[in-house]
Amino acid sequence: MNPIDLTGRVALITGANRGIGAAIAARLAAAGAHVVATARSLAAAEATATTFRAAGGSADALAIDVTDYTAVEAAIAATLARHGRLDIVIANAGSIEPIARLGDSDPAAWSAVVDVNLKGVYNTARAALAALLESGGTFLAMNSGAANAPMEGWSHYCATKAAVQMLTRHLHKEYGEQGLRSIGLSPGPVAGEMQAAIRASGLNPVSRLADSAYISAEAAAEAVAWLCTPAADPFLGTDFSIKTAEGRRLVGLDRLAA
Ligand SMILES: NC(=O)c1ccc[n+]([C@@H]2O[C@H](COP(=O)([O-])OP(=O)(O)OC[C@H]3O[C@@H](n4cnc5c(N)ncnc54)[C@H](OP(=O)(O)O)[C@@H]3O)[C@@H](O)[C@H]2O)c1
Repeated sequence: MNPIDLTGRVALITGANRGIGAAIAARLAAAGAHVVATARSLAAAEATATTFRAAGGSADALAIDVTDYTAVEAAIAATLARHGRLDIVIANAGSIEPIARLGDSDPAAWSAVVDVNLKGVYNTARAALAALLESGGTFLAMNSGAANAPMEGWSHYCATKAAVQMLTRHLHKEYGEQGLRSIGLSPGPVAGEMQAAIRASGLNPVSRLADSAYISAEAAAEAVAWLCTPAADPFLGTDFSIKTAEGRRLVGLDRLAA
């Protein structure tokens, strides 16, 4: 791990119960942040927070379904009431299923992915905005190279990630000068349940990647921690990629892997 110090910061992560979200929560806790682990299921969020507390970290758990603005707003209000500040918000919750070519897609299921991947990020940003402006904090959206390239079977995912990329740019344009740090991360393929679903679909080249093409959720989380530091300020308003050698070098992933 890079020597990143987030002591005294309060960080809220959506979808923190598994996959990349759980790894981000662990990494920010290891950097000294107080972690607010959120998940659709309070029990799942509590299980994550309990792990960090057992390891000597500081964490609590709240339920957030990102499709429900009222729930996001209530969780952020509860965090401010308990800690008096909010410094980092990671809009990580996301979905790619069901994977299907557009003509085979179910309209309700397609729309449900928009609710999570796009409206969920909007809901999280909207509810956290005032608190992050107050702290000069970071809003980070987990994005994807899918924002820039159509992939067979992923029309819902590519369209929503492209929209999230624009949302990140908008936040930066409207609030960057007031101190909001808004940024996206495109991690490339990360091993886990989402990639297992992609592989099972057999629908496009990503479903046929070799095992060596995946990075770990911990590597993606290392990038998130770095993006929460002033070192990443030149990239605010953009989607930062760790698929490039330069991106991995800046984050220190090449050095950590060596
Ligand atoms: N894996 C990759 O290769 C990859 C690459 C680029 C970007 N990303 C992005 O990184 C993020 C995390 O991906 P991952 O691989 O960790 O995916 P994952 O293992 O499928 O986990 C997705 C997380 O999102 C949560 N979630 C889904 N719908 C939600 C909702 N309505 N409200 C709150 N939470 C919800 C899930 O909670 P439940 O357990 O309750 O379902 C789970 O915690 C996503 O935004 C994804 O698009 C992933």
